[in-house]
Amino acid sequence: MTGVLPAEALSERATVDGSRVARPGHGARPRVLFVSHTGTMSGAELVLRDAVRPWPGSTAFLFEDGAFTDVLRGLGLEIRLARRGTGLSGLRRDASPLRALPMLGRLGGLALELARAARACDVVYANSQKAFLLAAIPARIVGRPIIWHLHDILDGAHFGWAQRTLQARLANLCAARVIVPSQAAADAFWQAGGRPSLVTLVPNGLDLDRDPRTPEALRAELGLPAGPLIGVFSRLAPWKGQDVVIEALARLPDVRCIVVGAPLFGEDAYAAHLRDLAAARGVADRVLFLGQRGDVPRLMQAVDAVVHPSIDPEPFGRTLVEAMLAGVPVVATDAGASAEILDGGAAGTLVPPRQPDRLAAALAELLAKPGAVAARTRLARDRALSRYGAARMQRDLATLINHVAARA
Ligand code: UDP
Ligand code: GLC
Repeated sequence: MTGVLPAEALSERATVDGSRVARPGHGARPRVLFVSHTGTMSGAELVLRDAVRPWPGSTAFLFEDGAFTDVLRGLGLEIRLARRGTGLSGLRRDASPLRALPMLGRLGGLALELARAARACDVVYANSQKAFLLAAIPARIVGRPIIWHLHDILDGAHFGWAQRTLQARLANLCAARVIVPSQAAADAFWQAGGRPSLVTLVPNGLDLDRDPRTPEALRAELGLPAGPLIGVFSRLAPWKGQDVVIEALARLPDVRCIVVGAPLFGEDAYAAHLRDLAAARGVADRVLFLGQRGDVPRLMQAVDAVVHPSIDPEPFGRTLVEAMLAGVPVVATDAGASAEILDGGAAGTLVPPRQPDRLAAALAELLAKPGAVAARTRLARDRALSRYGAARMQRDLATLINHVAARA
């Protein structure tokens, strides 16, 4: 593991709203083109939503329309939508690059649109690997620096060899900077062949208000049952590991679980599998599938423990920080960034991934003696407040964008 450059090392002069540091000779803050491949909002888009708040008047280029479009418009961004879409959202991220061949015509058209949009801006900011893959060369052709906000772990669990190599090589060739949310994501980028000096670590940041009501009052309002209750709060996808929680529940006879989230990117078969699994293990009456919700922080405050069961390395995991801010004990799998966020286990319990027995044992212990982890949960909240706030993230990203623009 090697240390990555923190954002504040880039420039002392940047401000959150980008107003003090300008491109040499321009006297104005840079015009940024934020590129998103999707209009659906999962963690990376929620990060971008908060990141663009200081940049009203900038442009957002989306490959497809969706709820995210209105959110960005509401934040004062000018919206540009790809004219013909790409079909990329249906392409699994670990698919062979050859699977994109039939889309070449549309992708070429998109590259031209991106080049035109990039020319009207000072900096291009790609918020996903698909956005970077498509925008990197157009941005370089029109001479604009491109920043890649890499929200993924470029390892064999998530991507095929060809994908990893292509992405790392393209970054080395085209990216002015690569932003990662965790050391785990930085390590994977380097191991895939990415140049270490390109990387800046900007941990995700978020702000949440705590509901002053007790968990009992919240449960009554939300219609949730009394008694031991745990929660999982992630989109439904095989690597998010909700099935492991259902398996663990079969070993915890009195415990109920809320499963919050939906299959956002076509994982409907997995969603159906979860229900079948709950029935097969005889726990269907103890698992409540609540679907996609807009009140995750409140739901978190209502449960006795939040489980973060990802079976593959998690690039960051906003839900971990949300649980810490909610003041609820966390049990997370030790894969990817969880250990960094939970301070090696001092701010939450770490269990090995894919092991329902170990997960069940950790939950049983925690639910039996809630007082035993009260101090740890307070520490977790303090840690989240001091390290993972939205203002710090916005400041770090503004520093970085201004730095890249100033050097261009
Ligand atoms: N989330 C939500 N509603 C849901 C399920 C999840 O708003 O029903 C939010 C959750 O609170 C978190 C984000 O979606 O902020 C997921 O981000 P995370 O980084 O944990 O994972 P991702 O899904 O992006 O891999
Ligand atoms: C991705 C990752 C998740 C991370 C989010 C924001 O969706 O899967 O771990 O928290 O991006 O960076």
